[in-house]
Amino acid sequence: MRVERVLGAAPVEEVQQLTVRAFAGQDVLTPPSGALSERAQTIAADFAESGGVLLRSNDGPLVGACRVRRLGLSWVVRRCAVDPAYRGQGLGRRLVEEVHAWAADEGAVRTHIGVRDALPASRAFWEQLGYWPLIGHGFWTELVRPLTLELRGAEATVALGGRLATELRAGDLLVLSGPLGAGKTALAQGIGAGLDVQGRVTSPTFVLARVHRGRLPLVHVDAYRLRDAGGRLELDDLDLDASLPDSVTVVEWGEGLVEGLTDSRLDVQLQRPSEDARTVTVTPVGARWSVFTSPPGDHRT
Ligand SMILES: Nc1ncnc2c1ncn2[C@@H]1O[C@H](COP(=O)(O)OP(=O)(O)O)[C@@H](O)[C@H]1O
Ligand SMILES: [Mg+2]
Repeated sequence: MRVERVLGAAPVEEVQQLTVRAFAGQDVLTPPSGALSERAQTIAADFAESGGVLLRSNDGPLVGACRVRRLGLSWVVRRCAVDPAYRGQGLGRRLVEEVHAWAADEGAVRTHIGVRDALPASRAFWEQLGYWPLIGHGFWTELVRPLTLELRGAEATVALGGRLATELRAGDLLVLSGPLGAGKTALAQGIGAGLDVQGRVTSPTFVLARVHRGRLPLVHVDAYRLRDAGGRLELDDLDLDASLPDSVTVVEWGEGLVEGLTDSRLDVQLQRPSEDARTVTVTPVGARWSVFTSPPGDHRT
């Protein structure tokens, strides 16, 4: 098998035939899957705009295809199709893992998929690949999978903060967790830089919380000292619920303390596998992080 990332010209007819073969069993769905009626032109446009991953057997024919849609730090995985004659060989997993690797290479931090509630086997496939439900949309559910990224050097942590800042809006909450020295403050510095805030973002260990004015106000909290039993009262004193709607709130050591502030958040988990590298997983929680505006099948997000 050969797996190939394609952005631009694609073998549209082969993809169309494969997709129809793979989705043929889904004509019983209500509403029916749009995969069965899409035009070649749409497929060509998908590959030209965002791309896809193709899987070919060694003797030539296309046996698997997935398309992606790039929405900033979120990629949507779409129209994953494996030739029915080749099922049960792990090819779907192979395709999707290539999508994950590609998304990570291009700076995405998560991938999303929409799955019909009427297709529990499909749901199980995605859950085995690390996806879990973000939000229900009626007859289908949006699943999300955070990509675990490697950050080599402090600049990479700061740069990730800058990328995250591009998608942040007022009301967003980020809960940073990880051991001492994992890079939580470095990430907050990157977010601050991305929001063009005033003043140096430093470890607010003595002040607990600092507000930096910027494109959006950044409320930067270090809850380390609040983690003992009496901490909750002190946390209340910070009035984060009052500042939250108009700010970006970033809380170091906030795990288990601040999740109740809002329905949606990003849980950012940093690990320190070695002195000169870190890993990070950014897990979205809640409707705020949904990327779909229309259902899968016909979903143009
Ligand atoms: N990806 C990385 N690779 C190597 N060192 C890093 C990385 N990210 C941050 N650091 C360094 O780790 C140290 C601790 O970072 P800091 O942000 O203060 O951690 P925390 O706030 O989690 O305690 C700093 O010297 C920082 O420059
Ligand atoms: Mg810190």
